[in-house]
Amino acid sequence: MKLNIAVLPGDGIGPEVTAQAVKVLKAIAMEFNHVFTFKTAIVGASAIEKTGVPLPEETISTCDKADAILFGAIGNPKYDDPSVDVRPEQGLLGLRKTFDLHTNIRPVIAYEDLLNKSSLKVKQIKGTNILIYRELTSGIYFGDKHYSDTEASDVCKYTRKEIERIAHQAFKAAQGRKKKLTLVDKANVLASSRLWRKVVKEIATEYPDVTLECRYIDNVAMALIINPRQFDVILTENMFGDILSEEASVIVGSIGLLASASIGDNHVMFEPIHGAYTKATNKGIANPIASILSAAMLLDHFGLYDEASLVREGVDKALKLHITTPDLNTKYDNISTTKVGDFIEDFIHNPDETNLN
Ligand code: IPM
Repeated sequence: MKLNIAVLPGDGIGPEVTAQAVKVLKAIAMEFNHVFTFKTAIVGASAIEKTGVPLPEETISTCDKADAILFGAIGNPKYDDPSVDVRPEQGLLGLRKTFDLHTNIRPVIAYEDLLNKSSLKVKQIKGTNILIYRELTSGIYFGDKHYSDTEASDVCKYTRKEIERIAHQAFKAAQGRKKKLTLVDKANVLASSRLWRKVVKEIATEYPDVTLECRYIDNVAMALIINPRQFDVILTENMFGDILSEEASVIVGSIGLLASASIGDNHVMFEPIHGAYTKATNKGIANPIASILSAAMLLDHFGLYDEASLVREGVDKALKLHITTPDLNTKYDNISTTKVGDFIEDFIHNPDETNLN
């Protein structure tokens, strides 16, 4: 298969982790005779520094022509001042909006080999396997905004169509899993949540084999870390999905492990859920696994299931052998970002022989 991949490393640790994912994709291309071409473009703070804007036209054009976008991370504390108008995050939000990447999928899996890395109890998290469907192009992130020194507002608006398209995807995903869908909202307070409930309940009649439960965000925020195994597919709006998926990373042991796919009707993007972690830049301590697993989701998206499985086996083996960066590692203290990437690359070339050396 031929794939043109736009690579947007972004800021902070983004370039380091993305380089490992590209390395892994190149190894896959070699072993399975695919032709993957990579074109790098700038986004976020690094784009602001070079061009004055977080999402330059050239980057949009590179992504538009690509079959898939591989995104790293963005952000820089330099732009934290609330009076700043141009911010790195606008680059990521701009990409999501420009390419209408409405459906964000975030798997949360408690790896057997990492159960004791979580701050939660092993017996609570063992066996967790959740798929979070987060709406990505609407809601409070994109509603009308107003800011002054005395008053500020963000409007949370959803249309029926925006809810329907992600809901169908989430129900279909549940059909292929444990057939349970949890809609997370705040329907006791928010009008937008009441529309979500109404629309999702209507759509549920088309998927009679899936059990739908509707729950409030405050309750799910608690339940997620008390008994995460009760969840199968979680469907939710933009901001609740952002918060819940970051909370869910506690189950897995590190936010450096959580990957995501952002799916639109004509474009797709794959990105780790973590941010730019500026303090760790170029120290070799950033965990590349979320980026590598995002690359595996890219392969899955194009139907390259054997290839994606091989990448995941490589990740599993790295975790089993403690070939992990310091956020997870207890056994060795000097495993760098690059070393993790190299190990998984070697595994792809020689699955039966790769060991730590
Ligand atoms: C994420 C991030 C982004 C978000 C930020 C960087 C804008 O937290 O992808 O989860 O809030 O969506």
